[in-house]
Amino acid sequence: MIEAASQPSPRRILLGVTGGIAAYKAAELVRRLRERGAEVQVVMTAAATRFVTPLTFQAVSGRPVRTDLWDDAAEAAMGHIELARWAELVLVAPASADFLARLATGRADDLLATTCLATVAPVWLAPAMNRSMWANAATQANVATLGDRGVRLLGPASGEQACGETGEGRMLEAEEICAAVYATELQRPLAGVRLVITAGPTREPLDPVRFISNRSSGKMGFAVAAAARDAGAVVTLISGPVALPTPPGVRRVDVETAAQMYQEVHAAMAGADVYIGAAAVADYRPTCCASNKIKKTSDRLDLSLERAPDILASVAALDRRPFTVGFAAETTDVERNARDKLARKRLDLIAANEVGSDRAFDREDNALLLLWPDGRRELSLQSKADLAREFIAVLAERYHETRRARPKLAPVAS
Ligand code: C5P
Repeated sequence: MIEAASQPSPRRILLGVTGGIAAYKAAELVRRLRERGAEVQVVMTAAATRFVTPLTFQAVSGRPVRTDLWDDAAEAAMGHIELARWAELVLVAPASADFLARLATGRADDLLATTCLATVAPVWLAPAMNRSMWANAATQANVATLGDRGVRLLGPASGEQACGETGEGRMLEAEEICAAVYATELQRPLAGVRLVITAGPTREPLDPVRFISNRSSGKMGFAVAAAARDAGAVVTLISGPVALPTPPGVRRVDVETAAQMYQEVHAAMAGADVYIGAAAVADYRPTCCASNKIKKTSDRLDLSLERAPDILASVAALDRRPFTVGFAAETTDVERNARDKLARKRLDLIAANEVGSDRAFDREDNALLLLWPDGRRELSLQSKADLAREFIAVLAERYHETRRARPKLAPVAS
């Protein structure tokens, strides 16, 4: 077992086994992952069962093996969606050429492909196939597509192949795959942590064509989502209207209003370990939205506004709340106002910055002051991507510290 203070273990690994002679090596992989403290649930494709029996994997994993999307009894115990949610890592070894193709085209025609489609956990593949099949342009295009979507490939290695040829396409050895899983994990202080983050502005409609909004670009929140993913977290990003691509490997939910964001945040809270409110949510919204475009009939127009729901405070007030992190955009007295907000909203951590027309909003760089109940850390002016990485490193320290001190705070039960 690896002794890193920041590493939660055991991890829940869903091991997919697809049809190829290298399937026999997957039994050894299960053994090694379990030695490291992981719980391993094996899912086999129909072709894989032609090479190794499910009984072998049942014996080494200590759990019934799942092979069929249509198995009523097993679906009743843990259906494909539960399997997808249970997994902190989906590892497919060996991954055949056919499986790469099916995953690249988003097929959901067997249990393993469906689970890969339904999970928000990282998906890692250890390909194994004949060297010509690996080199084929179709396979390489599938590999590129999967890479763009954040799927990670381990190998393949070069060497002698079962078909008698020599070349690239051998599955990595069980030891190498296991080492890759745990080596990365050491630098992944949020491995398996379920993190929900909001980003961007909200839009509060006045009539069918007008709304009240703010200058938030979403860049900081998106950079934090990507940094959290790199640190191993399973990330759900709930975003207001922004012009930014979704970071690969991150589940994104788009919303417009504060009310919609509130609803999606609370829908994502089951099982969440960390919540980060990085969105610039409207504090006030129009009391009603006109059903037709408001006409310019008078010289003056008074708008009536009401408070929008405070999403961050509502998360912090949950009975079994996640580790709760807020942002504070301040124009004056940054530290005093942010510390006041930290206490008032009962947050575990707050990231404060000074905003103005030339600062923070819709810029490529930023600086942050991080405050928690008994500490502070200043992060200097730098690109939002670098800043997000430093922010996540501090957040991970605080998260594990708080969890050790107050284990009941997190995680929220799923
Ligand atoms: O109180 P203030 O709006 O300055 O607090 C900012 C923090 O609160 C941010 O983390 C923001 O995402 C969150 N917030 C919220 N819902 C609101 C207003 C702010 O979650 N209606």
